[in-house]
Amino acid sequence: MGGNLEISLAAVNVPPEAMDYVMDTLRRGRLSQSEYVERFEKALTDWTGAKHAIAVSSGTMADAVALGAMKIKHHHNRVVCPALTFVAQPNAARMNEMDIEFVDVSEDWTMSVEQAERWRELAIAYPSDCMGRLARIPSGMPCVEDACEAFGSTLDGRRAGRFGEIGTYSFFVSHTLTTGEGGAIVTDDDWLADLCRTLRSHGRASDSDAMQKFRFPFYGFNAKMTGVIAAVGCGLMEHVDEYVNRRRQVFKTLNELMDNRFTEREGEIVIPHGYPLEFEGQMRRDEAMRLLLDEGIECRKFFSSIPSMEPAYAHLRRYLGRYPVAEYIAQTHLYLPCHQNLTQAQIERMAAVARSLPFLSKPRI
Ligand SMILES: Cc1ncc(COP(=O)(O)O)c(C=O)c1O
Repeated sequence: MGGNLEISLAAVNVPPEAMDYVMDTLRRGRLSQSEYVERFEKALTDWTGAKHAIAVSSGTMADAVALGAMKIKHHHNRVVCPALTFVAQPNAARMNEMDIEFVDVSEDWTMSVEQAERWRELAIAYPSDCMGRLARIPSGMPCVEDACEAFGSTLDGRRAGRFGEIGTYSFFVSHTLTTGEGGAIVTDDDWLADLCRTLRSHGRASDSDAMQKFRFPFYGFNAKMTGVIAAVGCGLMEHVDEYVNRRRQVFKTLNELMDNRFTEREGEIVIPHGYPLEFEGQMRRDEAMRLLLDEGIECRKFFSSIPSMEPAYAHLRRYLGRYPVAEYIAQTHLYLPCHQNLTQAQIERMAAVARSLPFLSKPRI
């Protein structure tokens, strides 16, 4: 099951510019740090409107570095994280040896603001823009916005990643901008940006001053993006609007064929990571997955409730029932492909198969 899938979850675009820049990088032997890293960062600041962008090796490392910097800035050792998310999000907090307070999500899959705000003055908020939907930001709390699944989504014209004090992106293959592995941090805060650059490079005092290179004021990571990957990113950024608009178009077509069951807030434009569907129960959802895979349509279970369903977090003793909304979604939802390279014929076929699935829940609108 799952082999030879005709409609895959991920799309890879490698424009000719990316190939030229990669060849240039290789020819000049600038495999690790190169001017393409700064060029990619500049393209990201221009596109997102952020004052600073810091390119890193993955979305996970973007989260780890951003959290590490916020921990130092706000003297907080605790984060409030949605129970329903991809495991990389809490893992990044653990890398920083931070305490994680998991809270339930709302029915729209994003972190419950009401529950998060109970930790005001005690913790950093760490919402995630799940499936491209923009999370509501808790008020009065320092905030890291994990926008790893939402590159390109906007609310009232403001881009995902720009709602917290600091935001993170992933350029993994299932996301809109795809360098294979890769990520970035964006912020308007000069001090935080400098600290992120330090933490990205082992926590060292300076990358450029030979006398400071082996001085380490902070505990850091090796989260640097390589020159080759940055060269790919530079090529992609020359086409970013094309990829984002195309993904949006695919989403709108699919959503119309599926009775507009994926709703948006007023002023919100979602550039999705996947297209979720809800089923009447776990066995029925699992059966739907088998049917989709047999039809050559790749799909995934929605994320799980990390603290109450994942063995890696069992030491927290947050038993099933503690996060009812997250657990319900984890047991009853799957998601379909919704990327920019899907053809009209593929979208129509996928929608026809999906609509015929037994026990597909009705749209909640
Ligand atoms: C919410 C969220 N955070 C972090 C990540 C980690 O990104 P990466 O796979 O680039 O490390 C992902 C990955 O898909 C994610 O969905």
